[in-house]
Amino acid sequence: MQKRKILVTSALPYANGEIHIGHLIEYIQTDIWVRFQKMMGNECYYVCADDAHGTPIMLKAQELGITPEQLIENVSKSHQADFNDFAIDFSKYYSTHSCENKAISYDIYHKLNKAGFIKTKVISQAFDSEKNMFLPDRMIKGECPNCSALDQYGDNCEVCGATYEPTDLKNPRSMISNKTPITKDSEHYFFDLPQFESKIKDWISSGSLQEQINNKLNEWFEQGLKQWDISRDAPYFGFQIPGVKNKYLYVWLDAPIGYIASFKKLCDEKKIDFSEYFDKNSKTELYHFIGKDIIYFHSLFWPAILMGANYRTPTAIFAHGFLTVDGKKMSKSRGTFIKARTYLDNLNPEYLRYYYAYKLSNKIEDINLNLKDFKERINSDLIGKLINIASRSSGFINKRFDKLLATHQKNDLYQSFIQQKQLITKLYENRNYAQAMREIMALADKANQYIDNEKPWELAKENKNLELHKVCSLAINLFRVLITYLAPVLPITANKAKDFLNLNELSLLAIENPLSEHKINKFKPLMTRIQDEQIEKMITNVKNQKQQENKMIDINEFAKVDLRIAKIIDAKEVENSDKLLQLKVDIGEQDPRNIFAGIKANYKPEDLVGRLTVVVANLKPRKMRFGVSEGMVLAACDQESLYILSTDSNAKPGMKIS
Ligand code: 2FM
Ligand code: ZN
Repeated sequence: MQKRKILVTSALPYANGEIHIGHLIEYIQTDIWVRFQKMMGNECYYVCADDAHGTPIMLKAQELGITPEQLIENVSKSHQADFNDFAIDFSKYYSTHSCENKAISYDIYHKLNKAGFIKTKVISQAFDSEKNMFLPDRMIKGECPNCSALDQYGDNCEVCGATYEPTDLKNPRSMISNKTPITKDSEHYFFDLPQFESKIKDWISSGSLQEQINNKLNEWFEQGLKQWDISRDAPYFGFQIPGVKNKYLYVWLDAPIGYIASFKKLCDEKKIDFSEYFDKNSKTELYHFIGKDIIYFHSLFWPAILMGANYRTPTAIFAHGFLTVDGKKMSKSRGTFIKARTYLDNLNPEYLRYYYAYKLSNKIEDINLNLKDFKERINSDLIGKLINIASRSSGFINKRFDKLLATHQKNDLYQSFIQQKQLITKLYENRNYAQAMREIMALADKANQYIDNEKPWELAKENKNLELHKVCSLAINLFRVLITYLAPVLPITANKAKDFLNLNELSLLAIENPLSEHKINKFKPLMTRIQDEQIEKMITNVKNQKQQENKMIDINEFAKVDLRIAKIIDAKEVENSDKLLQLKVDIGEQDPRNIFAGIKANYKPEDLVGRLTVVVANLKPRKMRFGVSEGMVLAACDQESLYILSTDSNAKPGMKIS
């Protein structure tokens, strides 16, 4: 059969947050499919990138006091380390903030513009006049216009579910400056999606989209397609619109183009023919794995943009559901918001790969992770069934037969394992991994049943060596078939098994020929059981992270504290107080401030006069028994000692500390 040429993508994770186990459903689902395609002998590339542009990334960099470029570089490193440790094998992992992406985005923009698919229109939007920027809907909060719930985002209410325009919110405020936004006009650039309605319908009818996507698309067609705003005003982290000052391409335009750009980079590095994959009449296959929340972008905007710019369209979009933990959304306080790294610190990545495979079908259904079920499933299937076949037979082969397998004779059990290949590969191809895992585990049960019936330990006791050799060799051969079937899901274990079996590769073709008079290596445990403590520790880690986060303040909160250099110009004891000294401090204002400080036990008043220190200048005045205190002197203290802060001698009273 002719080798297929396939390009596969997963959605690009935003470059402002860490990978969590919810994200991993998609990367694991895609990686299994890609590994399977390669195993079938197809040419298959898997590309992805960090989604690096947009307002949240710009603001996050500001909050951290670094450039967006620094932020996306740091995040990219951590994303790639997480993916690597989960054995996600990208052909190329890149960034949307790349020169390839800029060039292709501009090429597409120019082609769309030239063909009359870009329109301009003046629109009114919420504007933060203190920050001098337009506010995305998610950066405005206020009262729901429908149910008056407080603290709702500018696009929808989490209490009553109403959707609305940010201008409809009552008492709106900017989440960046906390000020009331004003409404301001600006010219925006729109992609004219309605022009593509019939072409998108043709694309759908020629392809094989999941039923739920088709249903969604029909709903959207009924509601009527709308023009799509693809521009954003400065300040913005992204690509400037060519020839237009202070306007940028919206992140959602250049993000999917990032799929093409990552592949372009790979083509340049590996001398692959790019045009074979992206020319209009390409015969190669292109698949996008995505979550159910971004179907609109991938099944309407994206094919229309590709059509408008004369590129090929995707062969299919594969959407999946979300992760729930114990039937609920992941939650930090319940200890179920598990970051990839927290998982990796406690558990083997292949447990999760198998568990997801065991649950994933080609339907857009949510996947539930129940940690008790997770532990039982892994311990039962992987350790109790799969690994057990090798561990209970290899000892005899090692000790009694010098690691040499017996001469294989034609055998019905072995043939029944090989006969399942067609079904299992079909299930992988159709992304019905759940059923594939069940078929494979049914075979593992059969193998264990065979060993149970033949009782090699008794054959050994009775010194029935010929029989013992045959039984254990067949068991090892059955294990080889099973681990070959599971290799797309368990690549790390498969690799170790390959060494144990002393093979160059695990191949679907090679299992047709069982190992016969073949020397294997000494068995080393391929995987260990999950212990309750590992899971408990992981949950504790998550809860601790939440506590740490609760203690954190952001830069805006910190900026509210007005810290100033103060010169102590007078200090005296306070009558009837054993703790307080009364200070007069110069903080650069016309009059000195009066501050009562609990430092009498540590300082003599006369030693303080003339010293420079640091005070909080915007603490609300506090009325005390002895008078009003108009600030606070900062000091380091523990149970025994106390030291007020000092500064360099050339600092000036009133200088702000930031
Ligand atoms: O929803 C998200 O997380 C986006 N960053 C996905 C982008 S996928 C593609 F279009 F680039
Ligand atoms: Zn509401």
